[in-house]
Amino acid sequence: MKKIMILGAGVYQVPLIKTAKRLGIYSIVVSIPGNYPGFALADKVYDEDTTDYEKILEIAKKEQIDGIVTAGTDVAVITIGRVCDELKFAGLSFEAAKIAANKLLMKSRYEACGVRTAKFRKIPLDAGDVSARVSELSFPLIFKSVDSSGSRGIVRVDSEADFDSAIRNVRDNTRSDYYIVEEFIEGEEFGAQAFVYRGEVSFILPHGDYVFKGDTGVPIGHFAPYGLEPSVIEDAREQLTAAIHAMGLDNCAINADFILKDKKTYVLEIGGRSGATCLAELVSIYYGFDYYEKILRCALGEDVIFDCDKSAVPNASMLLRSEDTSGIIKSQTDHNPKDPHIYEVQFDYKPGDHVEKFRVGPHRIGHVITKGDTLEQAVTALNKALENIEIHIDRD
Ligand SMILES: Nc1ncnc2c1ncn2[C@@H]1O[C@H](COP(=O)(O)OP(=O)(O)O)[C@@H](O)[C@H]1O
Ligand SMILES: [Mg+2]
Repeated sequence: MKKIMILGAGVYQVPLIKTAKRLGIYSIVVSIPGNYPGFALADKVYDEDTTDYEKILEIAKKEQIDGIVTAGTDVAVITIGRVCDELKFAGLSFEAAKIAANKLLMKSRYEACGVRTAKFRKIPLDAGDVSARVSELSFPLIFKSVDSSGSRGIVRVDSEADFDSAIRNVRDNTRSDYYIVEEFIEGEEFGAQAFVYRGEVSFILPHGDYVFKGDTGVPIGHFAPYGLEPSVIEDAREQLTAAIHAMGLDNCAINADFILKDKKTYVLEIGGRSGATCLAELVSIYYGFDYYEKILRCALGEDVIFDCDKSAVPNASMLLRSEDTSGIIKSQTDHNPKDPHIYEVQFDYKPGDHVEKFRVGPHRIGHVITKGDTLEQAVTALNKALENIEIHIDRD
């Protein structure tokens, strides 16, 4: 029996753990302690910090695992790189993982390789001459911590008067002694899922994003296909392929964030793992294969074929959220009749559990995924399915 180590035990790793079980693969799940649903499904659990790569490597050696993987989170990707290099597993390299984990390294690689990305500058945290350092950039600007995620330490700045507060925000969200300032691109955000396998990009699937406007944009759902002109899609594919190679990513899933402006795709950032918010499911439905299975088999070094020509099933998804209040779930009911267009309705919690008023992705309380013969049909089914879900929450 092969042994896979899965980093994380949250909702985005649960499908990986379940798929491993279905395939007869022994799953070792590593996560910090907490109320995570993956623990109960794993064959073996380690309560460890998934970013502590030397510790995880030690466990990987002791357990004699055959591969290591995660889904839906950037946090543990660096550990995957470290373990894959040391134990000669299929999977991204430590070097590529380090580039993916640092926005300055990532953007520098893009610049060196001619990948289209927002113009940027590196600034020491204690620099007193920020205005002079960014004088060649045009407002609006965006100040960014290089080593955070989930929009932490990312601040849009419209004038010099906002520099000090932006720098304070970055300082509170970084472990580095520098940050980057880049030009803010006014455009439409979208993304792509892709896979790079044995040096070749196996597929690129652009998708549309539904975004919740909180402090910054938070993705709350996705849909595919994304109706871009063929020439725009071609340009996005070229930029993504160049960006993947620029970062040296190989043998991993790819989660890409873009901004489209004047029909040109700018690469915001790329992660060496599959996307959260139902994006792995989006790939599975669209291509008609089990994407989690492909991800696991690649991580185990098996031969995998990405058969992406046979099927193109339109689909859409949306997170369930507590929009008005934090509190205790009193009841949650799915009143939807059986419907072939509904792929999945999932509740993350049980009645009695406490949930947060939605502001960021981890506050999700479930999701709905639909499909159709056309995108319009999938989206109509999504809206209808959402109307038929009744959740009552007792306010804190
Ligand atoms: N150059 C930019 N132009 C416009 N919006 C941006 C730019 N950079 C980041 N953003 C916005 O900020 C969000 C978070 O930035 P990102 O670099 O992806 O950091 P994180 O790792 O926190 O996701 C993006 O999804 C986008 O909405
Ligand atoms: Mg991002």
